[in-house]
Amino acid sequence: MIALRLNDLRQHSDILRLRSGGSLTVRFVEPRDAEGLQGYFRSLTVRSRYNRFLGAMSELPRTELDHFIHVGEGDRFSVVATMLVDGIETLVGEARYAFDADIGSFEFGLSIDDRWQGQGIGAALLKNLECRAAAFGAKRLFGDTLRSNAAMIGLARKSGFAFMPSPGDWKLVRFEKHIDVAPQEIPCASWRLAAEQIAHQAAA
Ligand SMILES: CC(C)(COP(=O)(O)OP(=O)(O)OC[C@H]1O[C@@H](n2cnc3c(N)ncnc32)[C@H](O)[C@@H]1OP(=O)(O)O)[C@@H](O)C(=O)NCCC(=O)NCCS
Repeated sequence: MIALRLNDLRQHSDILRLRSGGSLTVRFVEPRDAEGLQGYFRSLTVRSRYNRFLGAMSELPRTELDHFIHVGEGDRFSVVATMLVDGIETLVGEARYAFDADIGSFEFGLSIDDRWQGQGIGAALLKNLECRAAAFGAKRLFGDTLRSNAAMIGLARKSGFAFMPSPGDWKLVRFEKHIDVAPQEIPCASWRLAAEQIAHQAAA
């Protein structure tokens, strides 16, 4: 598994090409993002927020926001997806994931700003998460979503995830994918860093 050095977090940033031709930056959240992230969650529609947090929430509670911006705390990580709009870095999506090294699983949730949905950003971000999971050495990635969340179910289906009941909650469905794809096919900075680290250890 890759050992993330907190002072190296910026090295894990990726620039993804979107089908619109635009580019999307995916990077770890930084403390300077706290207010922007809170503003982002507040600006989501009630439905998107409900779907993201599996319940009614107008914004992130302070303590939760604090967890969001402390990358790596409790093996949990937050990334933001940003685009340059009129030269200004604009937050268009986010994802949070947890890696459980004992069982090799990578659990995640994500959202895209309502104004930017339907443009392939969710699919691009999800592919990037697959590579980040592979860089950890995860064997599978999964998430839980409301059975009524057609967009997330559609995105997961299109991205090759399988579906199963979510343990303990009939309102949720679990989507899961085994990581058998060679990460070279979905390159990301985390994977390249992990590969370098492995090569370095082998040479030592
Ligand atoms: C789910 C979500 C992340 C999808 O992001 P997105 O950027 O709009 O998705 P994309 O444009 O990349 O769509 C990729 C594929 O997902 C599927 N999809 C997207 N929106 C869909 C919808 N409303 N209904 C059915 N399928 C949908 C389609 O197969 C689509 O492929 P296509 O564009 O070739 O038709 C977004 O709707 C969202 O943020 N929702 C609110 C938060 C949420 O529900 N999070 C999930 C919690 S785990």
